[in-house]
Amino acid sequence: MDLKGRNFLKLLDYTPEEIEYLVNLAADLKYMKKKGVLVDKLRGKNVALIFEKTSTRTRCSFEVAAHDLGMGTTYLDPKSSQIGMKESIADTARVLGRMFDGIEYRGYGQEIVEELARYAGVPVWNGLTNEFHPTQMIADLLTIKEKLGRIKGVKLVYMGDARYNMANSWMVTCAKMGMHLTLCSNKEYFPEEKLVKTCMDIAAETGGSITLTEDPIEGTKDQDVVYTDVWVSMGEPDEAWAKRIKDLSPYQVNRDVMERAGKDAIFMHCLPAYHDLKTEIGREKGEQFGFTELEVTDEVFESAQSVVFDEAENRMHTIKAIMAATMGAFV
Ligand code: CP
Ligand code: NVA
Repeated sequence: MDLKGRNFLKLLDYTPEEIEYLVNLAADLKYMKKKGVLVDKLRGKNVALIFEKTSTRTRCSFEVAAHDLGMGTTYLDPKSSQIGMKESIADTARVLGRMFDGIEYRGYGQEIVEELARYAGVPVWNGLTNEFHPTQMIADLLTIKEKLGRIKGVKLVYMGDARYNMANSWMVTCAKMGMHLTLCSNKEYFPEEKLVKTCMDIAAETGGSITLTEDPIEGTKDQDVVYTDVWVSMGEPDEAWAKRIKDLSPYQVNRDVMERAGKDAIFMHCLPAYHDLKTEIGREKGEQFGFTELEVTDEVFESAQSVVFDEAENRMHTIKAIMAATMGAFV
C-alpha cells in the first residue's frame, strides 16, 4: 500500500483498505516499540505541529511518534506564531512547506486544514477540527480490534453531542468499515443531514448502518462499544454549558447504560472526560450546575469495561503509522 505524499484530513478521503492498512501498520509499530526495536526510518526529516487549540494526547503522540521515527519537531502553540493574525493560511503553508516534511494542524474549521494542505506541498495531518478528528479514529479502530478481535460488523453507540467532530468522524468511520453505528442524542444535536446521507450511502455499499435515535433505552441495547465525548467542545462559548447539561443529561453513560449494552461491551472516550470534579473546569461547572460527573459516571470510567487508557496509548502508535505511511517510510 503506497500512501506516500497523501494528506490525512478526513477519513472520507480514504478507502476501507487504506484505513485497515493504517490500523495494521500501527499494530506492527506498537509491537516493535514494545520489543524495543527502533524504527527510525525518517531520520533527518522534520515536522511542524500547529495547535490553535490545546491538547495533551495529540501533541504528545505526534512528538513521541516523530522522535521514535527519527524526526525533529517544532511545536507552534495557539498564541505565539503569526498564523491567522498576521499571516494567512496559504502563506503559512507555503513557508512551512519549504522547511518541513510534514505539517500537523489542530484548530477550528475543516476548511482551514484543507487550505493548508492545498498550499503546503508536503503531507498535512488533521489533529482535530470542529468537523473531524481522523487520527482519533485510527486509534479507536486499533483499540476495538485489540479488544473485540474484529472491526467489520461491530455495533457502536455514540451517546451525547452528535453534531460535532467525534460523532461526524464515527459516522464516516462506521460507514467505511462496515460497522453499525447508533447516534443516540436529543434531535437538536443530530448531525448535518448532508453528511448523514453521504455516510448512509457509503454504509449501503459496505454492509454497515447508521441509526439516529433519541431513545437512550433502545439505543444502548446489545452494543459492542459504548462511546461518548464531552458535551461542550473546545472553542465553544461558556454560555453553552447550561443548555447542554439540560439537553444531554439523559444520554449520560452510566451503569444502566453499560448493563443494557451487555457485560462484554467496552466503554470508550476520546478524552479528556468530566467523570469527577478533579479538574478546574469540572469543579467550577460542578458547583455552578450541581453535578459531580457529566457525560460518563466515575463508576463506568473506572470500571473493567473501560478501555480509555489503552485507547489513549494507541493515539501514539496510530499517529506514528499515519506519519510513516504518508511520508513514505516503507516505500
Ligand atoms: N483525544 C484527544 O484528542 O485528546 P487531546 O485533546 O488531549 O489531544
Ligand atoms: N469534541 C471534543 C473532542 C476532544 C478530543 C472537542 O472538540 O473538544
